[in-house]
Amino acid sequence: MPTLQCRNIGKQFGALIALDRVSFELHDREILGLIGPNGAGKTTLFNCIIGLEKPTAGKVIFGGTDITGLKPHKICRIGLAKTSQIMEPFKALTVLENVLVGALHGGMLSMKEALMETEMILGFVGLDKEREKLSSSISVPARRRLELARAMATGAKTLLLDENMAGLNPHEIDEALVLLTKIRHSGRSLIVVEHVMRAVMGISDRIIVLNYGTKIAEGSPAEIAQNSLVIEAYLGDKKSLHGRN
Ligand SMILES: Nc1ncnc2c1ncn2[C@@H]1O[C@H](COP(=O)(O)OP(=O)(O)O)[C@@H](O)[C@H]1O
Ligand SMILES: [Mg+2]
Repeated sequence: MPTLQCRNIGKQFGALIALDRVSFELHDREILGLIGPNGAGKTTLFNCIIGLEKPTAGKVIFGGTDITGLKPHKICRIGLAKTSQIMEPFKALTVLENVLVGALHGGMLSMKEALMETEMILGFVGLDKEREKLSSSISVPARRRLELARAMATGAKTLLLDENMAGLNPHEIDEALVLLTKIRHSGRSLIVVEHVMRAVMGISDRIIVLNYGTKIAEGSPAEIAQNSLVIEAYLGDKKSLHGRN
């Protein structure tokens, strides 16, 4: 059974069709890349999955249960979490406190357990040294790690990452890729929205491509890189499919 299934998801904002019958599956411990030009509907699809938006059509099935339209905190508690395109840590809190909020938000842990989990995750993502710093004072790559840590701390086994590598330099991207691989090996599944093509092509088992709210392709990274519909969709976009970044 797939971990997550989207069946014919549709989302309309007034007259705008942001998603049109999008279907796909995510499997256990899989890394699924989700790409497409700006405005293709990637963030909207994530929001429909985790309950920030209500799909106007279709179903989201997680672990065999229909979770379509459930509230975000309920969806979080059954094991799905998202990191945002726009980083939004609690700025007045330290790194450790931010992760602790995630652990308590997951709803399953006592304070003592949540603290232990937080310690473990800070080590896992490599934020040990930053733990007492205010989250507003740490570097961009550290904040990206903090986003991952907060999502992991909720106990989620499935993570949706929305441009978690934005703003990173090539070396930092390499480090981020190592961390994502580690997260997968920890038994989690990931959907990765990323404009950095080298990254998404390198790390994904499979890739799906959205354009104007429609899934136009699905396949291995090699298949996607050669798909004429995909190449065409990216020609009009400033971030090239074969960009060097
Ligand atoms: N809350 C909203 N209200 C109206 N239109 C929206 C809203 N959110 C997204 N859109 C529109 O839906 C389309 C898909 O946006 P989005 O999902 O953010 O694309 P992507 O993440 O692929 O860049 C865009 O045309 C965008 O302007
Ligand atoms: Mg987006």
